[in-house]
Amino acid sequence: MSSDLVAQSRLKLGILLSGRGSNFLAIAESIRAGKLPGVEIAIVISNVAEAAGIAAAAQLGLPHAVLVSKGRKRAEHDADVAALLEAHGVDLVCLAGYMRLLSPEFVAAFPHRILNIHPSLLPAFPGLDAQQQAFDYGVKVTGCTVHFVDDELDHGAIVLQRSVPVLDDDDAHSLAARILAEEHIAYTEAIARVASGGYEVRGRRYVKAGNKGTREQGNK
Ligand code: GRF
Repeated sequence: MSSDLVAQSRLKLGILLSGRGSNFLAIAESIRAGKLPGVEIAIVISNVAEAAGIAAAAQLGLPHAVLVSKGRKRAEHDADVAALLEAHGVDLVCLAGYMRLLSPEFVAAFPHRILNIHPSLLPAFPGLDAQQQAFDYGVKVTGCTVHFVDDELDHGAIVLQRSVPVLDDDDAHSLAARILAEEHIAYTEAIARVASGGYEVRGRRYVKAGNKGTREQGNK
């Protein structure tokens, strides 16, 4: 997968969002700051007209579109989104607070080419309100996960994770803010890893390409 992506001169991102868009802005800032050479944002798409993230994309002068999903059949809406991404030559789809499940057809159209960020250390606390779930459970460490999207919710191969402590005087809000700061670092690192072409998906594992895992076998 990754070798296909790097064979091209530029890696074109399609960002999908539904809300405030801080992860999108962190990616845009990393590109502006030269931290993701060869990577560009080809289009930002929101399924919610009022999303702050899409207003921010417009302000930055990036190609952007609103495709409202409310009241539409999932497969039909997703087909429109996929067509727009393809029309903009998108290589890698980045879900950045996209609050909508993807149809199997959409996932199949971008095999190992969709990233998502989730605010917990998966497989712990998938689904909504992950920070609150972690807080309520009483874990001492949580964090965020960037992973490839497959047909199951918050499930695909993990690209990277970053952890944060849960402090005694936290509430779910302060914890979410600490996690979000790590999300902004993690998404850029994950895109850099994909863009490098030096990693591959092997089963559930996203590992350096060419490393055949002999050490794991030897340790058994
Ligand atoms: C983040 O917490 C992300 O992990 C989750 O949705 C939130 C989106 O935040 N998937 P933002 O819109 O990027 O600020």
